Amino acid sequence: MTDLTSSPLHTDLLPSNPAAVARAATLLQAGELVAFATETVYGLGADACNDQAVAKIFAAKNRPSFNPLISHVADLEAAEELVVFDARSRAIAEAFWPGPLTLVLPRRADSPISLLCSAGLDSLAIRLPAKESARQMLRAFGGPVAAPSANRSGRVSPTTAAHVLSELAGRVALILNDGACAVGLESTVLSLVGEQPLLLRPGGLSEEEIEARLGRPLAQAEADAPLASPGMLASHYAPGLPVRLNADAPLPNEAYLGFGPVTAVQQTALAMLPLNAQLNLSPTGNLEEAAANLFAYLRLLDLPERSRLAVAPIPEFGLGRAINDRLQRAAAPRG
Ligand code: TXA
Ligand code: MG
Repeated sequence: MTDLTSSPLHTDLLPSNPAAVARAATLLQAGELVAFATETVYGLGADACNDQAVAKIFAAKNRPSFNPLISHVADLEAAEELVVFDARSRAIAEAFWPGPLTLVLPRRADSPISLLCSAGLDSLAIRLPAKESARQMLRAFGGPVAAPSANRSGRVSPTTAAHVLSELAGRVALILNDGACAVGLESTVLSLVGEQPLLLRPGGLSEEEIEARLGRPLAQAEADAPLASPGMLASHYAPGLPVRLNADAPLPNEAYLGFGPVTAVQQTALAMLPLNAQLNLSPTGNLEEAAANLFAYLRLLDLPERSRLAVAPIPEFGLGRAINDRLQRAAAPRG
């Protein structure tokens, strides 16, 4: 395995044109790491069937524990070789793939996915991303690609190639640059292993859309249940600054992340802040726009000279639930 402390890799940053995608496939086949754009966030990819390649992901991210990873596939047929579908899960896959939904399904007995990738569980998390360059890379590689978000463990997920470079330069062979991620939040993780559909992680596909398609309400995984998404640590997606939630207006020493039209009270308080310490996730109050901006704005406002990052209230419906989930993790006590 690459010794990350003594021999940093050379990291290439290339626009995701056909030549770069072919290069990515060759590197993946050789067991190297490639960061690539999806519509949710940038992923740090490796051959999901190669234990050593998967181990490099954990090393590059400094992941403290072997959380199970999502296997990314180019089409439904490829997914059928890894997990067992039934009528319900196939209908959900057909409705929402490609897109920001990860399905946790029973692992097939003959599934070639690395046991390290699935952390030894008898289920597997599978995702079919919508971003065209990601699908081209998956087709060129010809197998499933394990990919967590392409950030160091505990940091905010990257939504641009520059974010990836700042976190993983010297730890990844190639970064495929395909611009900013349109969704901006990680995929929704839905377990269809048991009779009761279980939401393991709110994300880029809203619960309401899934419930409408299933015709029944989703159960929410309890944060501390062993069945819940094992990677969902309370403190995660953490900026360097402490975070104050549901802040109607900033205090003078804070940076402020707003949402929606600026109120008179906010306007007065914002006049006291330097311009680089204030951003609005969506001045019109659009939750999709807010989701797309969330991680990039958390990075921009993580200014060492401010004492705290205050965040405006975000409505708790649609993508607002996933945004609030990430914000609560950003605000959780660090440990
Ligand atoms: O949008 C996304 O999902 C991005 C892009 C790159 O696809 N990936 C991502 O991966 O967010 P990661 O590793 O940060 O999150 C994967 C989540 C974790 O919460 C993990 O615990 C859960 O999926 N997971 C993976 N396999 C699982 C399994 N067999 N059972 C339950 N949860 C699982
Ligand atoms: Mg992550």
